[in-house]
Amino acid sequence: MNKKIYLDHAATTSLDKRVFRAMEPYFREKFGNPSSVHSFGQEAMFAIEKSRKEVARFLNCSDSEIIFTSGATESNNLAVRGVIEKYWEEMGKNAPIPHIITSAIEHHCVLDTAISIKKMGLVELSILPVHKNEGIVAIEDLKGKIKDNTILVSIMYVNNEIGTVQPIEEIGEFIKEINKERKNKIMFHTDAVQAVNYFDCNTKKLNTDMLSFSGHKIYGPKGAGVLFIKKGTPLKPIQFGGGQEYRIRPGTQNVPAIVGIGKAVEMIGGEKSEVKNRIKKLRDYLVNKVLKEIPDSYLNGSKEKRSPNNANFRFDNVEGEGLLIYLDMEGISASTGSACSSGSLEPSHVLLALGIKHEQAHGSLRITLGKNNTKEELDIFIKKLKKTVERLRKISGDVLKDFDK
Ligand SMILES: Cc1ncc(COP(=O)(O)O)c(C=O)c1O
Repeated sequence: MNKKIYLDHAATTSLDKRVFRAMEPYFREKFGNPSSVHSFGQEAMFAIEKSRKEVARFLNCSDSEIIFTSGATESNNLAVRGVIEKYWEEMGKNAPIPHIITSAIEHHCVLDTAISIKKMGLVELSILPVHKNEGIVAIEDLKGKIKDNTILVSIMYVNNEIGTVQPIEEIGEFIKEINKERKNKIMFHTDAVQAVNYFDCNTKKLNTDMLSFSGHKIYGPKGAGVLFIKKGTPLKPIQFGGGQEYRIRPGTQNVPAIVGIGKAVEMIGGEKSEVKNRIKKLRDYLVNKVLKEIPDSYLNGSKEKRSPNNANFRFDNVEGEGLLIYLDMEGISASTGSACSSGSLEPSHVLLALGIKHEQAHGSLRITLGKNNTKEELDIFIKKLKKTVERLRKISGDVLKDFDK
């Protein structure tokens, strides 16, 4: 079998060797519990604080505004639920129900958290649509939804399925301005998981109160995440235990993973623009070639305002899951959408939000490039994709002919 080609970097990335080397000692010889007073503990705590500094530098914030978590799922749950729980704690049970706003294309860990607290009667919820075909939230739609009781807006930076880039800086600026006149201040959270590799995450420039990301999407380890919480943001812990992570996120820290996320962030800093340009060139080459060489193929989401590594295609009369399985047999690893919804028969909520019909949403394929992909790999992929699409179209054509008989 030929070498496998990995084109699913939005699902996860391989651990960078330099990150692995930085983590290694903390599994064995430097194994201390960072809460212990003795030197083993101090050594582990020192490593965590070094990593926190690195992340804080990357996000342009203070060390004390960085909370380490187990990943973006936890960070996003903490951001959304933490603000709401703080509201109820401060205001008491007879307070008016607060209002939160999010978008129809969020990752399930934001969307379902918001829906779950709405079902519990803790919030009113507005879910913003996205521009049809483009997959981008309109700031005008957001403005139209703000109410006196709005206390939280959570809009992702870059979508994980179609790669579209949301106007985070514009939204941050707008919220900052209206907050000057408001009694109920609005907190602004962004899920930056898919943005960290390629986009500016300077929290001061973006005017975000909270920002989340995961280690394993940036050539770092799984089981490590970050939540930036701007000083003064009202937020209550959603788990209880020890006093770790500034009493916001209890539990013994995952020291090797935290060291790894710090190193991964440091690596991005130095490589960002070179990697971004190279990947964008490859992605543009891929998109142009696929759309030209495969009939009835389309790109889902905005062509311009998208992450440089993302291409999300749809092919008429082709079933996405079948396409994935055939491609996998050919040594190509891709995806139909987010990693967690693959395997479900439901079409992606993101593609449906674009206005794409159910059957078309089932014919989609997400390709997300990484820093080690090459043009040669893409040429092999395109050849195999063409062959597989033709084969699947022929099978579905034959089945339809049989039905007609
Ligand atoms: C945009 C986005 N948010 C949140 C997550 C959740 O990250 P994790 O599974 O690392 O907790 C993902 C993972 O795919 C994602 O792409």
